[in-house]
Amino acid sequence: MGSTAVEFKNPATATLLDAVKARRTIYGLKAESPVSDDVIESIVKDSVLHVPSSFNSQTSRVVLLLKEEHEKVWNIALQAMEGLVAAGALPKEAYESSTKPKLEAFRAAYGTVLFFVDYDALKDIKEKFAIYADKFDPFALESNAMSQYLVWTALTSEGFGANLQHYSPLIDAQIQSQWNLPASWKLDAQLVFGTPVSGPGEKAFAPIEDRFKVFGKSA
Ligand SMILES: Cc1cc2nc3c(=O)[nH]c(=O)nc-3n(C[C@H](O)[C@H](O)[C@H](O)COP(=O)(O)O)c2cc1C
Repeated sequence: MGSTAVEFKNPATATLLDAVKARRTIYGLKAESPVSDDVIESIVKDSVLHVPSSFNSQTSRVVLLLKEEHEKVWNIALQAMEGLVAAGALPKEAYESSTKPKLEAFRAAYGTVLFFVDYDALKDIKEKFAIYADKFDPFALESNAMSQYLVWTALTSEGFGANLQHYSPLIDAQIQSQWNLPASWKLDAQLVFGTPVSGPGEKAFAPIEDRFKVFGKSA
């Protein structure tokens, strides 16, 4: 599914949009990397440095976990879910047949990027621009999501498959203590990545005509 074929002034624009179209959710992942860890680190650092934030508040915090460190995230999630089973909050059958294999599949991947928002970093700006105070928390999440999307797309472009997960707040305390992270870092998302061993699922697109309008376009 694409838009009308056009000729871009800069071929890099077409390359960028091809990368956008190639990014998909991939759940079948193995613990191998098509590139060096330096390449992965460079992508993640660029996403922290260059993704914009409201008033340049720079509220995103990111932790890159590879190999055994990555596996710890999913052991934490498995433990947390087992705690829910023990407490009677999650049926054992559902855990064994669905939750556990899903978490084990994440653990079988190569790495996880943890995306956090540091809400403490917004204190000054909320005082300075009091009129927008209630907007800054959602703005911080929007900026964080931009970083998530950039990393997801760039890793895909380097040959990885990836999927985006949300196990917060269930795993927050353990994540914070495992890597001794500041208490003000609030976990938002976990991007799991590895060498793909399966393709993406079917994806339906709602008609673009219902979702997009243009006014003032030249013929
Ligand atoms: C904000 C957001 C939250 C998502 N949360 C999850 C999630 O918690 N677990 C999951 O497996 N996929 C999650 N996804 C993936 C979506 O289900 C997926 O992107 C969507 O179905 C479109 O498929 P595609 O990624 O292959 O294009 C999330 C995606 C977005 C953008």
